[in-house]
Amino acid sequence: MPANEEWDVASGVGITALMVAAARALESERADRLIEDPYAAALATAAGRAVPTAAADFGEGWQDTIDYIGLRSRLFDEWFERACAGGVRQAVILAAGLDTRAFRLPWPPGLRLFEVDQPKVLAYKDAILADHGARPACERHEVAVDLRDDWPAALRHAGFDPALPTAWLGEGLLCYLPAETDVRLLEVVDEMSAPGSRIAIENLTAKQSVLLDDDLAQSSEKWGVDLNALFSPDDRPDPADRLAGFGWQVRRETVDEAAGRLGRALTSGGRGLTRAGDFLTAAR
Ligand SMILES: C[S@@+](CC[C@H](N)C(=O)[O-])C[C@H]1O[C@@H](n2cnc3c(N)ncnc32)[C@H](O)[C@@H]1O
Repeated sequence: MPANEEWDVASGVGITALMVAAARALESERADRLIEDPYAAALATAAGRAVPTAAADFGEGWQDTIDYIGLRSRLFDEWFERACAGGVRQAVILAAGLDTRAFRLPWPPGLRLFEVDQPKVLAYKDAILADHGARPACERHEVAVDLRDDWPAALRHAGFDPALPTAWLGEGLLCYLPAETDVRLLEVVDEMSAPGSRIAIENLTAKQSVLLDDDLAQSSEKWGVDLNALFSPDDRPDPADRLAGFGWQVRRETVDEAAGRLGRALTSGGRGLTRAGDFLTAAR
């Protein structure tokens, strides 16, 4: 991919934002839902692409995706709530995509939340949320920038204060970034993190097992996009080791552990995404 190629939610890596929103929409309809995202269905469908509207629509593997996305969404929702209970009042969602946490979580007064993503992805989300009369439950700031560009400058320009403890989230992100950008991203997070800061990361480790998965091939056909090609092929050092190297206290939770803790049965028997990685949380 040429450096700094732009995309919207119907093209390039942007389409993965649409996919996650489609999964959150279906998760929200479940009797045993782990999250309720009232905007996910509109965000998933308004781009005009065919999206799955039932668990079986996009192949058997899609159920696994919904199970997993519901789990990861809840896990990070609760993590943000704990960070706020611990006194954090500044949050940054790196590659926010169609994330609606700014609108659906019970943020404490004065919480400032920065959403970083490509300009067209954020503009699409804004338009749909405005149509639905959505109002943020915090002080929300958009940072329309490519993470391969000077995003720290854009973040500061949007009002980010590096003197405040920050809760950073990297959900559905690192696997799409070139290794160099990923490595630099955590270095910058470390540099811009006051004591008391935290980070949560979805860490897709066993990328090959996902890439070779038949479910993914079936899903690619349905979405009309080669999903394998969206993942960065680059190897990179484990983010847990990198954060530990900066002196952060790191905790690793497997998908099975998280599923047990949050009461999510992995109905497909745990394959695809549920076997692809783990969740990291770290504090400085
Ligand atoms: C799988 S989606 C995840 C979105 C969101 N975190 C969620 O879980 O709903 C991946 C997101 O990463 C964003 N992204 C990937 N590479 C990026 C880059 N270089 N700069 C900015 N955003 C990027 C895409 O635009 C997309 O919104």
